[in-house]
Amino acid sequence: MSTKPVERRRIRPFDAPSNEEIEQYYSGMSRFWHPVLPVASLPAGQPYGLELLGEKIVLARLDGKVVAMQDLCRHFQAQLSLGEIMAGPDGQQCLMCKYHGWQYDSTGQCVGIPQLLPGREIPAEAWVPTYLVQERYDLIWVCLDEHPTFDIPEFPELSDPAFRPGPLRVYEPWSSSAPRAIMGALDDTHFPWVHEHTLGDRSQVAAPDHKVWREGRYLMSQYSILQPRNVTISQTDGKAEPALDTVTYTNFVGVPNVIRLLKDSSDGKRYAIWLATYPIRYNLTQTFWRVARNYDLDPAHDQVYEDFEDIVRAQDKPVVESQRPWLLPPFWTHLEMPLRPADLPLIEYQRWLEELEIMLTV
Ligand code: FES
Ligand SMILES: [Fe+2]
Repeated sequence: MSTKPVERRRIRPFDAPSNEEIEQYYSGMSRFWHPVLPVASLPAGQPYGLELLGEKIVLARLDGKVVAMQDLCRHFQAQLSLGEIMAGPDGQQCLMCKYHGWQYDSTGQCVGIPQLLPGREIPAEAWVPTYLVQERYDLIWVCLDEHPTFDIPEFPELSDPAFRPGPLRVYEPWSSSAPRAIMGALDDTHFPWVHEHTLGDRSQVAAPDHKVWREGRYLMSQYSILQPRNVTISQTDGKAEPALDTVTYTNFVGVPNVIRLLKDSSDGKRYAIWLATYPIRYNLTQTFWRVARNYDLDPAHDQVYEDFEDIVRAQDKPVVESQRPWLLPPFWTHLEMPLRPADLPLIEYQRWLEELEIMLTV
């Protein structure tokens, strides 16, 4: 927790955030793993440039291992993502800059300079920063900090034979910050308003009794609600009544950027929704989604579930994108009015973000 003195500053919701606020968000979020690309989308034999938390990075698979480095050549700062993968002087694959052919190995060290005079050594400063990389859940994850605060959150349903996982889904980026996208999934009191007839019913608008607690690196929330029958958990099977079913949600927020929601029906069915955010910039966030179910395991039925999720996400997108300011305003601004106990999961999520100094709290 920050011990810096509190200084009250005015934030106007429709203004762009200050550089200081953006920097706080970027530096706070940089200490976590972020998924940036499906493994299958990394082109074979070529580098791939992208942006993470406002930082340009380049991915390349060198000798079978994905590496991530700053997308900037040390020579004259051309983007390395324009370059080529080639065999370096020691036979190991390296990334070659397109401008003058400088070559970088998987540690970011420059190992070849075509213009160097014979007998001259490559300058020791000729290197580019590299970042931590993992491949997990069919995604490439990058951490911009050498010491991630937490490991990548678990997704046990993906490897559980009792579950049928759907395909990895990549949605077009939302004009929002990553915490706002996560909060859109953590929030349940919007169901009757944004998802009427799909996830909510306007005869059931009272907030459920949320249990919220921390468990290791997760913020947990749990509640039971009456929800319209739908493919997630309860099909109507042509039976019109009852229209609502009791569904229990157990949510695991891998603070700050991943959420897994488990929906349990009263007859033992479980439906898992997994969302991992990719904060491209403070106001642009790509989302990766995957669902899994332990019933109706026929792969031919996957599309029914995907179609349902497409509807739900299309309902959420304009509302989340409309929220201002883009960066979640700290509690001290009183710009927003979270209600107790209705918004308890969101309040506790934000409290943790502030502890992690992802937001400017002074
Ligand atoms: S700018 Fe990259 S080799 Fe010159
Ligand atoms: Fe929603």
